[in-house]
Amino acid sequence: MLNQPDLNTLSKNDQINHFLLIRRFDLRTTRSGSDFLSTELGDKTASLNANVWEGFTEVAARGKVGDVVKVAGTIEEYQGSLQIRVSSIRLAKSSDEVSSKDFLPQSKRNLKEMKDEFNKRINNNSNKYLNTLLTQIFNSERLELFCTAPAGKSWHHAYIHGLIEHTLEIIKICELMCEFHQELNKDLLIAGAMLHDIGKLGIPHDLLNKPAPLTEEETQHMQRHAEVGYKICLPLKKVLGPALDVIRHHHEKLDGSGYPDGLRGDKITTEARIMAVTDMFDALISDRPYREGLTKEQVIDILRQEVRDGKLDRDVVEHLVEIVT
Ligand SMILES: [Fe+2]
Ligand SMILES: [Fe+2]
Repeated sequence: MLNQPDLNTLSKNDQINHFLLIRRFDLRTTRSGSDFLSTELGDKTASLNANVWEGFTEVAARGKVGDVVKVAGTIEEYQGSLQIRVSSIRLAKSSDEVSSKDFLPQSKRNLKEMKDEFNKRINNNSNKYLNTLLTQIFNSERLELFCTAPAGKSWHHAYIHGLIEHTLEIIKICELMCEFHQELNKDLLIAGAMLHDIGKLGIPHDLLNKPAPLTEEETQHMQRHAEVGYKICLPLKKVLGPALDVIRHHHEKLDGSGYPDGLRGDKITTEARIMAVTDMFDALISDRPYREGLTKEQVIDILRQEVRDGKLDRDVVEHLVEIVT
């Protein structure tokens, strides 16, 4: 356990002697030819720029984004923002007993409360087959994994427990969506909501937990969660029916620009369209580490623009607007 003041409680001229996570890392050269290390260092609560002018040979040679460093220095202000003036920096050693996990933010919601709510949702399902199936899928071991996973680092709900929090929000909205779509099987839509991101459990934790923006290749890997989730649930096709489409196609767009299959228009089921809109709404409105989520009005503007661009279903977006306003 880290025993050090949170970065967001520090002010100008405070001294630090902290373990921090490297969030950005560039070796640069000034016009006069001196090398320096330009970094962004952070903990669970904040992230600050730090330029290191000397004593960085070890970190420059062996350090990388996601490593923990021990830093001594002073908090100073530069152009209106706080930054760290580093006097010494070294990579953390195993004897320091710190790991990058100590630096991941956590969901603000209580985990036990979220777990109870999730289990209650499973039990509320009136389809007994589905109920048993969901209980088996979310057995205690998998539920544990599901509860600790972030919904996706650098995406949305990018913190520990983010996936379960995101899923609970999606379930709530989908339940209300059913009022507008009496033709849909509510139990199956809710099952689809519960399972839509289950493929993220198949994404390596290093990638889900990566404390820095994803590369193009990593983004593609992350996008595979829709297919991975589909493959996990495919043997249950008979019971899951349209919920299986939701898992595979919740990132498809009406103009064919989505993934994984680039489906267009009518090829995308109503259930998958609902999930696409709901998922995007929740992703945009949620806070990310060190950046607040967008306002409801901003998110609605973006969703309506997606409708005008031919990507999202107009009716579903307007139903969502009715639900959330
Ligand atoms: Fe997803
Ligand atoms: Fe999602």
